[in-house]
Amino acid sequence: MSTTTQTQSQTTLQGPEVGMALDGRPTHYNDFRDQLNRDGYAVIKGAIPRERAEGYADKFLSYIEDFGLGFNRNDPSTVKRDMLPVINEKGMILNYGVTHEQWVWDIRGEPGVVDTFAKVYEDDDLIVSFDVVNVGFANRADLPENKPWPHQDQDPSKPGFRCLQGLVNLNPCGPNDGGLIVCKGGHISSERFHAEMANEPRIPAWTPEWYGFTDAGMKWLSDHGLQWEKVCAEPGDLIVWDSRTPHYNVPPTSKQDRLAVYTCYMPARVVSQEDLVRKKGAFEKRLGTTHWPNARHVAPNNDAMRDGKLCPKNRTGPVQDPVLDERTFKLTGIPYIKASA
Ligand SMILES: [Fe+2]
Repeated sequence: MSTTTQTQSQTTLQGPEVGMALDGRPTHYNDFRDQLNRDGYAVIKGAIPRERAEGYADKFLSYIEDFGLGFNRNDPSTVKRDMLPVINEKGMILNYGVTHEQWVWDIRGEPGVVDTFAKVYEDDDLIVSFDVVNVGFANRADLPENKPWPHQDQDPSKPGFRCLQGLVNLNPCGPNDGGLIVCKGGHISSERFHAEMANEPRIPAWTPEWYGFTDAGMKWLSDHGLQWEKVCAEPGDLIVWDSRTPHYNVPPTSKQDRLAVYTCYMPARVVSQEDLVRKKGAFEKRLGTTHWPNARHVAPNNDAMRDGKLCPKNRTGPVQDPVLDERTFKLTGIPYIKASA
């Protein structure tokens, strides 16, 4: 999700190599996979036990308070730009090495989260993105407008299921609370959409793995009966969606803050050694990536800019350097690097 650019290489994923069929034909798994295949997204209830999820929410808010800029979770008057770390209009904290904080890694390593992706990819050997965290304060009045930016996170010239995205939800997230909006079933219509709308002007994108829907594109979706839905979830629920499913997020209109951590995995076997080596570099320098776990884009640094200047609370790495258990360390991709690479 981060808006960084760097060296590009060819993505090595191929549709048929990445696990279960996501083609909209009825399935009978009798779990979240049936919904995922039908709707292009699914909610995995209690992927993280409620108590632990509340613990992560507490750590998330403590992390923001501990910047020492004045934010206090119990005082709504402190929800102000200069009392908070740099957060963009979509709610993302992109910098400060937050993606490598211990609590973020603990979420990535949660068995119920990892196992969900393992089921979809039909593979236990996964790597994870070093993606951002999202905080949407309910009473935030000093942010630029978060305009809807309906999009797919996949290059239209590479159709088929290639990537499952996810976010762990840490606060109650009802119909009026900020969060993810998806176009139900849009993954199935994607190929037809791009065939019929091939001449539609493209919204500029910083990566080919992003496609933004124009007004005409939105009309096509509506004309074909596709509907947008706000995804609701409880603390500890995991939301997953096919990268072809059109989506965006909305700020809260309720009094409930939004807290979410993006988690996206893919099988190690479909990622090139070159990608893994680049990913290792990102991990060792405590840098972030997009949601693509193959680290095609690595942030050049962790610098947070505030009004054109480095944030006084800027930091080059996490407050708490992560200590990972064996399974979680595998998610960095480092153990899959061959000696000759
Ligand atoms: Fe996205």
